[in-house]
Amino acid sequence: MLEEPVISWIYRDMTYGLIVRPVLKFFDSENAHGLSIKVGSVLASTYAGQKMLGYLYKTPSLPIEALGLNFRHPLGLAAGMDKKCEALQLWPSIGFSWTEGGGITYHPQEGNPRPRMFRSDSERALVNRMGFNNPGAVASRNNLVSIMDSGNWPRTPLALNIGCSKISVNDERPEDDYIATLNQLWDLGDLFVINASSPNTVGLRDLGQSNKLNNLLRSIDNFRSTRGESRPVLFKISPDASDSEIEMMVDVALDNGIDGFVAVNTTTSRPRPTSTRSRKAFSEDGGLSGRPLRDRSLDVIRIIHNRAGRNYPIVGVGGIDGPDSAWHAITSGATLLQLYSALVFNGPSVVRKTIRGLKRKLDQEGIENIQDAVGIHSSTNQ
Ligand SMILES: Cc1cc2nc3c(=O)[nH]c(=O)nc-3n(C[C@H](O)[C@H](O)[C@H](O)COP(=O)(O)O)c2cc1C
Repeated sequence: MLEEPVISWIYRDMTYGLIVRPVLKFFDSENAHGLSIKVGSVLASTYAGQKMLGYLYKTPSLPIEALGLNFRHPLGLAAGMDKKCEALQLWPSIGFSWTEGGGITYHPQEGNPRPRMFRSDSERALVNRMGFNNPGAVASRNNLVSIMDSGNWPRTPLALNIGCSKISVNDERPEDDYIATLNQLWDLGDLFVINASSPNTVGLRDLGQSNKLNNLLRSIDNFRSTRGESRPVLFKISPDASDSEIEMMVDVALDNGIDGFVAVNTTTSRPRPTSTRSRKAFSEDGGLSGRPLRDRSLDVIRIIHNRAGRNYPIVGVGGIDGPDSAWHAITSGATLLQLYSALVFNGPSVVRKTIRGLKRKLDQEGIENIQDAVGIHSSTNQ
């Protein structure tokens, strides 16, 4: 028996694969991205549009509790897709159980000159050097407050990704830039992700060095104690750090009250290209995301899980594009998941396919609760 009307399959998968994706290919990657978000957010802001998207992309629930928050299932939208938090209603409508907005820096930034986003279809990878283009913390606050006042606030948890302004990275106290942003946004996010791992702001990754990281995370911890209201704060890790550097970062983070980790940001390394277009994309400066990032992401999840233990949730991100990659991330130690690149290559149905597949995996393994699958294949649990 068919699980759902064939007509909704036609609309969902064929419309994206045969019409939307080829049309978007005529635009450069960033324009295509902007256009998809604009059209999607207009659609998701109407009652009829929400109903239609909700029907087409209906995603089963697979509840999980983490960081004191309840998630309908583990899979959220990764940072960078909605830098301006302009489509917050769209993401839950296409099935995501939580959204990470940003990266946001204190000062408004144009980012690097265009073109700055490149795609390799054969490798299912993106290269970007956006450089934290965003409206800045004050405008982001105003935007979020107006969404809240309009009654259109999403019903799913909202994480905010906090970066460092380009002009502050080499300051004596770059941490002040992060604190100024957190101060603007603290009452608006359900959780926060501290980003010192983007490869596209020169000097940013140096903030991951032991003494600088200690200063940064200690200042954030002090800030939290002055603000009272408790909010989870996670630290996002670079896949290009060595294994021992990652262990050091985990130790420093835990010493300074960090609640969990996001693994991983984009990488400056490149796989061997298998097509001319990939060779061209991979020759561009910037961070690579998508399928080639998957193995290193799993390594980093395992390293963090083994170092920090079960009490510190990990958000697994990097090359997740379906049930198998999602399952590997969870069994390596991730409690929550995110994706970005697979939304570009597979379209929105990747969310429901991933969660439906995860449910099947749990049934096959005889595991009742997704929480019980976390880390079962990380080395400490084997
Ligand atoms: C165009 C683009 C912009 C991004 N911007 C950010 C950002 O502002 N902050 C951040 O922490 N990560 C950013 N990321 C990284 C993603 O959040 C994610 O860590 C990475 O893409 C790996 O996931 P994926 O393989 O599913 O794409 C960006 C990624 C892309 C492709």
